Amino acid sequence: MKKYYIETYGCQMNESDSEIVRGILETEGLIRTESLEDADLILINTCSVREKPEQKIYSRLGKINKILPAENNAKIGVIGCMAQNLKSDIFRQNNNVNFVLGPDSYRKLPEIIKTHREHIAFTDLSKTEVYEELFPSRSSGMNAWITIMRGCDKFCTYCIVPFTRGRERSKPVESVVKEIEDATNRGFYEITLLGQNVNSYNYEGNNFTDLLKKIIKNEKIRRIRYVSPHPQDITEELLKVHRDYYPKLANHIHLPLQSGSTKILKAMNRNYSQEHFLSLVKKIREYVPNMSITTDMIVGFPGETREDFEETIYVMNKVKFDTSFMFKYSPRPYSRAYKMDDDVSEYEKSERLTEMIDLQKEHTLLRNKEMIGKEVEVIVEGYSKKSNAEMMGRTSSNKIVIFPAVDSSGEKIKIKSIIKKTIIETKGVTLFAK
Ligand code: 5AD
Ligand code: SF4
Repeated sequence: MKKYYIETYGCQMNESDSEIVRGILETEGLIRTESLEDADLILINTCSVREKPEQKIYSRLGKINKILPAENNAKIGVIGCMAQNLKSDIFRQNNNVNFVLGPDSYRKLPEIIKTHREHIAFTDLSKTEVYEELFPSRSSGMNAWITIMRGCDKFCTYCIVPFTRGRERSKPVESVVKEIEDATNRGFYEITLLGQNVNSYNYEGNNFTDLLKKIIKNEKIRRIRYVSPHPQDITEELLKVHRDYYPKLANHIHLPLQSGSTKILKAMNRNYSQEHFLSLVKKIREYVPNMSITTDMIVGFPGETREDFEETIYVMNKVKFDTSFMFKYSPRPYSRAYKMDDDVSEYEKSERLTEMIDLQKEHTLLRNKEMIGKEVEVIVEGYSKKSNAEMMGRTSSNKIVIFPAVDSSGEKIKIKSIIKKTIIETKGVTLFAK
């Protein structure tokens, strides 16, 4: 029996795509191995969103060549966004790579693993591929990723994704419902709906909220999340669903701000102003007062002055995000900003990023401190990394909670159980409960 090995880099979409790829390979009779040296097929699912992850993958490919024994004839495939972005560059930089497959070409895998041709590349982008009826081979655990739409039509000027993942397209409602039923029948409690712009979902007139309302009816689901929405597509209708279906619909929203300066937002083609973003946050909190709000931010976009950066700091202070992902701007081929002068110095980018990270730490701590003394619902995921005497679980607001592995009556707490816990302490991003 042939064995495959897969490494995944980048966002949750890639995690989900790797599960689709695994489903395809396992249908072909291959079995998964965790050992690179053992594998007949090695796949690296890659990310292109910034330059750094691309460099990391080139160096990883170099390392893989060194790890593999000389007589090894495993096939190596680079798949995902970098395959789409760099195509034959990858062969040039790395002679051992046998094939590259872009994110819309995974159905080619059965054909590829049977041929002996070298340097095959399939990188056509599709207008329709949503990998319908291909049941992913899911990682074990609590949460099932369900991709409901692929691609992006927003064309933020810094972003390569519309070029690596192509146009927006949505999976049929019935198909999503069936995939979720399959996941819940296998014991997954938590469902995370995924899409590059998850709330742009639209299938034959069914929008994202219509889909949510249908999914919420599945009684086996304990919690539903989604990532990532675009602020522009957060509707009043969606906020009403949040209000009406909490806690089944998690009280967490990931709302990428990118910049707090209206001038920079305009240059980024984000289609909202600072005022709009702040009023949206206000509205979200009116509907769901305890909503956890997280974000993505970029420092050093072309033309960002110190004053523009301070506008972002202003928004951070107003909103006090629960957590955020913060990045230095990285020029990306194909994107509109690639032609702009990358005029914020590396030094300035680092300074701004450090300042931002420090402020975010304060806000995260503040938000977590607000939870001390409160009782929260936790889904138990497993033992804590540090000790078997403690377990870890996640709140609806997507925060990690650590608590003793036995309850007050001396009973062992079961993995996957849903329990109520009172938060007593917080350190960094983690909460601790009795
Ligand atoms: N440079 C830096 N950060 C970027 N992101 C996307 N493109 C770039 C880029 N060129 C960030 C955005 C996005 C997140 C997934 O990655 O913040 O929301
Ligand atoms: Fe990139 Fe903007 Fe699309 Fe997100 S919405 S994937 S940041 S282009």
